[in-house]
Amino acid sequence: MNPRGGVGAPTILPAGRSDLGAITALEAEALGGAWSRESWAEELDSPRTGVLVARAAGDVVGVVALRHVEDVADLDRVIVRPDHRRGGLGRRLVGAGLAWAREVGAERVLLEVAAINAPAIALYDACGFNRVAERAHYYGPGQTALVLETSIATTHGGGDE
Ligand SMILES: CC(C)(COP(=O)(O)OP(=O)(O)OC[C@H]1O[C@@H](n2cnc3c(N)ncnc32)[C@H](O)[C@@H]1OP(=O)(O)O)[C@@H](O)C(=O)NCCC(=O)NCCS
Repeated sequence: MNPRGGVGAPTILPAGRSDLGAITALEAEALGGAWSRESWAEELDSPRTGVLVARAAGDVVGVVALRHVEDVADLDRVIVRPDHRRGGLGRRLVGAGLAWAREVGAERVLLEVAAINAPAIALYDACGFNRVAERAHYYGPGQTALVLETSIATTHGGGDE
């Protein structure tokens, strides 16, 4: 497979209940399972959420999850399996998430990211997000979150979805 595109590039489509196990495995590996299987099941079932997965050769290799409230969508998760990173899949997943948000009527997308999560901050920068606030101790004592935002109407950094 070629994670940078072309033949064998992962396809990105809405997730189904049958993806729950693969998604929670990605979550456990990348983020220590901060969201439980039950949390992900709620995400999959809620009419307010968009959960999209990237598949390569039948395997789930990435996921993005957003929640929509009125004119705002929160981008809560983007995860790429380690062996598929740095090939543009994170950027494509964020782009697909922004397209979902636009379709459900959101005008801007917000997210929180740990200030120490350099790869994620670089990805969001590359996708056109701007820093709008900082939240001290958001993830625990001394663990700052950055709040990032992008206007969907002016965002073009999302890849091919
Ligand atoms: C953050 C994450 C999703 C990025 O996925 P990815 O597929 O590697 O990202 P991409 O290849 O699309 O990268 C797009 C851009 O983001 C930036 N970027 C991504 N990873 C980076 C890294 N490790 N270091 C520096 N820049 C990085 C680069 O600008 C990159 O563009 P380039 O490759 O042309 O230089 C992935 O590292 C991951 O799953 N991390 C663990 C989960 C996580 O922390 N998610 C965010 C919080 S929910």
